[in-house]
Parts: sequence; C-alpha cells; structure tokens
Amino acid sequence: MKNILVTGGTGTLGRLVTPQLRDAGCNVRVLSRTSKQPHDGVEYVSADLIQGDGLDAALEGIDVVLHLAGGPKGDDVAARNLVAAAQRAGVKHLVYIGVIAADKMPFGYFKAKLDAEQTIANSGIPYTTVRVAQFHDFVLNVARMMTKLPVVPLPGGLRFQPVDARDVADRMVELTLGAPAGRVPDLTGPKVYGIAELTRDYLKANGKRRLSLPLRMPGKAGRLYRAGENLTLEGATVGTRTWEDFLAAR
Ligand SMILES: NC(=O)c1ccc[n+]([C@@H]2O[C@H](COP(=O)([O-])OP(=O)(O)OC[C@H]3O[C@@H](n4cnc5c(N)ncnc54)[C@H](OP(=O)(O)O)[C@@H]3O)[C@@H](O)[C@H]2O)c1
Repeated sequence: MKNILVTGGTGTLGRLVTPQLRDAGCNVRVLSRTSKQPHDGVEYVSADLIQGDGLDAALEGIDVVLHLAGGPKGDDVAARNLVAAAQRAGVKHLVYIGVIAADKMPFGYFKAKLDAEQTIANSGIPYTTVRVAQFHDFVLNVARMMTKLPVVPLPGGLRFQPVDARDVADRMVELTLGAPAGRVPDLTGPKVYGIAELTRDYLKANGKRRLSLPLRMPGKAGRLYRAGENLTLEGATVGTRTWEDFLAAR
C-alpha cells in the first residue's frame, strides 16, 4: 500500500483529491499549517512549507508526495524546502501542479511557480509535473470581485480556458497513482472564453445586471494576454466540465 503525503490537502483541490486517494487504497497524510485530528481514514500533520517547520516528521515513511499547497507568494521557497526534506526522506515520486504559462507571464506568482517546477525537475527525485489552467473557482472569484463595481471593467482580448477542480482532482489522482512521467501535457478546460462572456454568464446565473467598460490592458502583460500566451490551444489534456456546467451546479 502506498504512503502518500498530500501538501495542501485542505485546499479547494486537496479536499477533492484526498478521499479519492484513500478510496484507491492508499495511506493518506495531509500537510497544511492547520493541525487536525485524523478523520475519515486520513491523517493530518501541521507544517509550514515556507518556514520549513515540521517537514521531516511530515515526510517520515512517505513514498509519494503530491504537492498541491500554494499561495499568492512563496511557492518557490516552499518547493525548495519540500524537495530538501523529500530527498532526506528518500521519497520515490514527487507530483507537482504548476500553472500554464509559468514561463511567460510577468507576474511574481507565475515566476515562483516556474522556479518551483525547476527545483523539482532538478531534484534528482523522480517526478511528474502538470501545468493547469485557472480553476472555475478562481474565475468565479474574479467575476465576483469585478461585478462588485457599478461598472465592470473588461480588458479586451483577455481570455481563459477555465477547468473544473473535479477534473483537475481526477487527473492529479491518476498521475499520483502512476509512474513518474516528468512534465506531462497541460490540463485545460474544454472551452476558451473571453472575460466579457465569463462575466456575463456569472451575472445571468446570479440574476444581476451591470454596465461594462471595455479597457485596453497596458504593457507587456496586456500584449501577452491579447496574443493568447496564457492559453494552451494545442496538445493539452482537456477536462469535461464547462463554466456553464459549473455555474449551473452551484
Ligand atoms: N486555483 C487555480 O486557479 C489554480 C490554477 C493552476 C494551478 N493552481 C495550483 O493548484 C494548487 C492548489 O490550488 P487551490 O486553489 O486548491 O489552493 P487553496 O484552496 O488556496 O489551498 C492552498 C492549500 O495550501 C496550504 N498551504 C498554503 N500555504 C502553506 C504553507 N506555507 N505551508 C503548508 N501548507 C500551506 C493551505 O492550507 P493551510 O491554509 O491550512 O496551511 C491549503 O491547504 C496550488 O499550488 C495552485 O498554485 C491553482
């Protein structure tokens, strides 16, 4: 039976992945900063990947690490601390979720995710990395924030390929139970949407109306988004659930 550590197993994605790994017959331990009693056959350990506290105890006896923990800042530091502890523990497979366009977008979050990917690829630990598009939950938060304003700003040319966290969870489980595969094809949702379409669908689903204001996004980021550099249009693994399905299910 595999002993699996899921970092970030208490997050949006982690909560979907953990029961599936347990039901597949694995011993599952979840690492996050919050400590919890074991329940539903899952063990919880408290450790901070950025501070580096508690990692050796969390990794004791672990064969496979599924690294999902992440935040707006510090994913590069977290990966370095995790890799060092995983090397000491003799981990046999490290599975990582990156973000599509990690090597292109000029933002700190993307740079840290790329740095984390490289740390893992150069660690000497057999690994699997998949870059994933924005989750529906993320797009929902963006739509909520933007529609709090009386007039919704809509950057022209900004598109997303949002993917359902349940589809991501299924893929992460498959990769975790499989053999180390290095970098595997990106995972996206089934459709590409403009920001205007995503916002309109959200407003409609919530019975709201707003005026909108088309904008031109300035600078390098604007050019990259308009060119679709944040998307993977060919060669991706594609999830099944659409943005419309996600809104309807809520
Ligand atoms: N959301 C998206 O659109 C998207 C797209 C592509 C890739 N991803 C990647 O997918 C992963 C999961 O995303 P998510 O949306 O499920 O994240 P989430 O809901 O924000 O959950 C983050 C998880 O990480 C844990 N965590 C955060 N900082 C930590 C630290 N310093 N030490 C230990 N644990 C820490 C949190 O637990 P505690 O708070 O209890 O510590 C929580 O379990 C992330 O790596 C993210 O970069 C997300």
